[in-house]
This record gives sequence, C-alpha cells and structure tokens, in this order.
Amino acid sequence: MMMSPGRSHRLAPRRIMYRAQLNGPDDFEGWRRAARAFAIAGIAPAEINWQVDGDSGDLFAVTPAPAALPPTSAAIFSVPRPFVELAETAILHRDPQRFALLYALLLRVREHPSSLEDRADPLLRRVEGLAKAVRRDLHKMRAFVRFRELADADGPHFVAWFEPDHHIVRANAGFFMRRFASMRWSILTPEISIHWDGETLSEGPGATRADAAVDDPVEEIWKGYYAAIFNPARLKVGAMLSEMPRKYWRNLPEATLIPGLVAGAQAREAAMIATPPKPAARQGNADAAWQALRDEATGCTRCPLYRDATQTVFGEGPVDAPLMFIGEQPGDQEDLAGRPFVGPAGQLFDQALEEAGIDRSRTYITNAVKHFKHERRGKRRIHQTPETPEIQACRWWLEQERDLVRPRIIVALGATAGRALIGKAVTIGRWRGAPIALESGAQGWITVHPSFLLRMPDPSRRVEERARFISELRAIGEQVKALA
Ligand code: URA
Repeated sequence: MMMSPGRSHRLAPRRIMYRAQLNGPDDFEGWRRAARAFAIAGIAPAEINWQVDGDSGDLFAVTPAPAALPPTSAAIFSVPRPFVELAETAILHRDPQRFALLYALLLRVREHPSSLEDRADPLLRRVEGLAKAVRRDLHKMRAFVRFRELADADGPHFVAWFEPDHHIVRANAGFFMRRFASMRWSILTPEISIHWDGETLSEGPGATRADAAVDDPVEEIWKGYYAAIFNPARLKVGAMLSEMPRKYWRNLPEATLIPGLVAGAQAREAAMIATPPKPAARQGNADAAWQALRDEATGCTRCPLYRDATQTVFGEGPVDAPLMFIGEQPGDQEDLAGRPFVGPAGQLFDQALEEAGIDRSRTYITNAVKHFKHERRGKRRIHQTPETPEIQACRWWLEQERDLVRPRIIVALGATAGRALIGKAVTIGRWRGAPIALESGAQGWITVHPSFLLRMPDPSRRVEERARFISELRAIGEQVKALA
C-alpha cells in the first residue's frame, strides 16, 4: 500500500518494496551494483530498504520480485569519478542512512552531473560530511594503532587493539600491509579482526581489548620515542586533545607519560631555551623512517608513469621542516637530476623564496606526482599534466611525507598540488589568499605554480603576478614564524 502524501495525517506502516542486501557495512561494490539496477529501473530512494548481512531487517520489507530489476550486466551507466570517490568513502560511515543518501545523490548526479559542484546543496553537504568524518577516522587509525609484541611458535606476532568510529578497518588494511609488510600482525577491533602473515591478509570476527596483549618491550621503545619527540614548546593541550581524542589514550602506551610530560613542560621549556639543541632522538627516528619511505618510493609502480620516467623524484628537505611546498610533478631537469625544483621553474621559485625571506634549506619541497609525465617529440620531452588517477595513486607517498614531516604550513603550488592537498578539484582563483584548516591540524595554502609565471606572455602582467606571488610567500613566511 502506497501512502499518498498530503491526503492522510494518520501514520501508516512504511511500505518498502525492494530490499537490497549487502555483504557487509562497507560493501561498496554491492551497493553500486544494486544502486545501478535500481536507478535504471527508476526506483525511488524511499522504496528501497538497504540491509547488511547479519543486521536485523525491516519487518515490513518485501523481497523484490526478481523480474522487477534489470539484470546487473545491463545496469551500467557512468557517473563522474569524483562521485564514485565520494561514495566509496562516505559508505564507510556508521550512519544507517548512508546507503539511501548515496542512492538519492546518485540519482541526482546521474540526471545533472554538475550538481556535484553545488556546494550549497544540503544532500551533497550531508554526504560530504560523512566522507569527511570517515577520512578523519582513517587517519586516526593510521596514527594511533600501536602494536604490542607477542611471541608464538612461529616467532614474533604484533597485535594491536583499535576502536574505530566507522567501518574503516578493511579500507585501511592496505596501508598497514604496506607499512608493516615484513611483520606478522593482527589488528583487533570490536567489529572485525584483520591478520597479516607477511603474505596474505585474512579476516576474523570482532574481538575485545582483553584479546590484545598488555605490556611488552615494544611499548618501552614507543615510550622512549614519544618522550624524546615531545616538544614542550609546542604544548597545546586543546590541539593535542583534538588531534588525539581521549578515547584513544588508553590504547597508547605513551599516553601514560602525558600527565608527567605536561607537568614538566615548563621546566623542560626553560631548559631547552638554556641548552643548545642536541641531535634529538626524534630526528634520528624520523630521518630513518623518511629514508625507508624514500627507498620504497624508488621502486614505485603505483601508476604507469614510472615506465617512461628516469627515476622517482622524492621530496627533499629537513624532516622536521615547519613549512612544506608541494609542486605538480618533476620536469625534464628534475627527472634527470632526481631532485625537485631544480629546473627553470625551480630557479624562479628559489628567487621568489629568497625575496620573500624564506630559507629553502629549512623547507620541505615535494611534488604531488613523483614521476615525470611527458610525451616525446623528436628529442624533446614535453611536459604533460598529470591526470586524477595519477595524482590519487601518488597521494600514497605524499600523505606519508606529510605524516612524517608534520609541517605547520603546507603550500600547494598550482591546481594539481591543490587537488593533492585537499582531495578535490580546485580553482586557484577561488582558493588563493586564505588559509585552509587541514584535518591534520596544519594550515594549508593554495597559490599559483612558478611555471605559470614563467609562461605568462605579457611582461607587465608577469611582473605584477610575480610580485603577488612573492607577497603571498612573505605572508606565509611570517605565519610560519608566528606559529613556531
Ligand atoms: N615543477 C614542479 O611542479 N615540480 C618540480 O619539481 C619542477 C617543476
């Protein structure tokens, strides 16, 4: 029985005509298949009851008559890639409405692809809000999982306990497999456990905190490391709490040190000022981690660009730099030299930095894409702008550089870097000139790429734009000093 809106004020049981059964709370492929079929059949969002295996169902739901939906193989149509990326993330949210919201958004985007640009649209904003919360949770898991060492007949086994807010564990498994490729580890969470034996990832049921070990030698190393990197001059309890919510403290061995370190912060700060800095343990650890990351990136095949490039051009600069610049991709000369910003754009950039009073050797400089994308014309190699999938593939490295360096300010030079920084397409004119609050707590800025200045045909406009670029850099340099 269908309700006729506006005629009756009595509550009638909701009539669900179709049931979509998903294999798990993060079953994006299942959702996509069903959503395509429903969309092609013209089914309205309110007519679908989305269910996840194992969840208790809606008693009013009626199993769909199979003939009511077209076969899946015929149910193909395309939607813009940014929608797919948004949906893949938002679907991991724990909000039970997410499947229906995404389906409603899919119908809209299918009809009007440009509706994805409508920032004021409440449905789009709600779905983006879900995706944002999920990204934050993914980041928290990467930052706060702490392994404890157990030993069994097969040798060391590292076990961690984590309580995510959303259904992110499977989506994050790849990160831990790559980061801890040669370790045997398990991550236990209330909903699911994942296990890596060095070759294969497997899944098990949810667990409890008691299933993870309590104290072990690895914790002592963590505590030593944390105490060494704890910088009392940077102590901001509010920021610390928002970055490391109390919920995670009980699983972090180093959290037991925090009250003592906070209490001693003033004394340590005074001592730090009085004593010349020694090579800190943090530096040693971070440098070693950066070196390992760089070595790993040398063999990167995450997208096809490595095939025609001479080498990976990784970021460079101090691993504790307060300021990070992200360019687009190495150019011809960078590709040969293996270093970022050493060609013509790099020379212009160096001059601009100098005029703005920024010391390049105290900044970390990297690129959104780490291989030179080009086409050959005779002997010349002509730059080509990287595409979204290449930028996406390379964000893997950029995010780890960001995690290691933890700069206070990150400046994206040009639209490609802007996309890599905030994860969506940017128009420089719209984003330029105002700081962006990044999820990591850092401040982001987006401005033009130096090669934009090099290419400007009109000399007087070039002078004008160059001056604007330098004044932006100068303001950013001032911010870095203010935040230090
Ligand atoms: N342009 C960039 O974006 N990066 C470089 O490293 C060189 C030129």
